[in-house]
Amino acid sequence: MRVRATRFVAAAPTPGSLPPAGPPEVAVAGRSNVGKSSLVNALTGHRGLARTSRTPGRTRQLNFFLVNEEFLLVDLPGYGFALGPEEERLGWGPLVEGYLEGRTTLRGVALVIDARRGIEADEEQLLAYLAGLTLPAAVVATKVDKLGRGATRVALAALAERLGPGVPLVGFSARTGDGREALWRVLRAWVARRRPRGE
Ligand code: GTP
Ligand code: MG
Repeated sequence: MRVRATRFVAAAPTPGSLPPAGPPEVAVAGRSNVGKSSLVNALTGHRGLARTSRTPGRTRQLNFFLVNEEFLLVDLPGYGFALGPEEERLGWGPLVEGYLEGRTTLRGVALVIDARRGIEADEEQLLAYLAGLTLPAAVVATKVDKLGRGATRVALAALAERLGPGVPLVGFSARTGDGREALWRVLRAWVARRRPRGE
């Protein structure tokens, strides 16, 4: 996809500070430090758009980026950071869960995982949670640049088998741009859907 323009429009550190719902939105979710913000930058071709870091927990608010004046990409805070295993919910608290549950303009969630780690219990739980909300989900296995071609193929095949046909799977690398077009196809299809969620 040709990204003509991307701009930061809002940051929401609290449920009350979400921008008013407007254009369709697609959200990027995943474990802390997995590479969500790097993915937003790679997708849009803007290196410094979303702040990235080696330190987990960098993104602590929802960041909204408007692409081509048409739809919003939403960079979510990561989960799984500074959480005890006894934590029963996803651990995001009311901010992200309230957003996912209540945002009428949200069209789908791209769940970013590390291609080397695959799907773990948190991701299983999140996918089930999104399915319960009737929110379309896709899995993006990122950092494939850290695996060789052969290992990437093996990892993606195992993931595809685990996910089944209902959840699109994209191999991705923010470093090389691998998977960018494939992921845009998934996100664009969500944005183009006429019917709002749940119908
Ligand atoms: P939080 O906001 O803290 O949850 O992190 P995040 O998921 O937004 O991760 P971020 O994009 O900040 O990236 C975390 C680290 O992973 C950084 O050191 C990135 O440079 C690195 N990284 C992200 N994507 C890739 C990738 O595709 N390949 C490689 N090799 N490194 C990556
Ligand atoms: Mg981030």
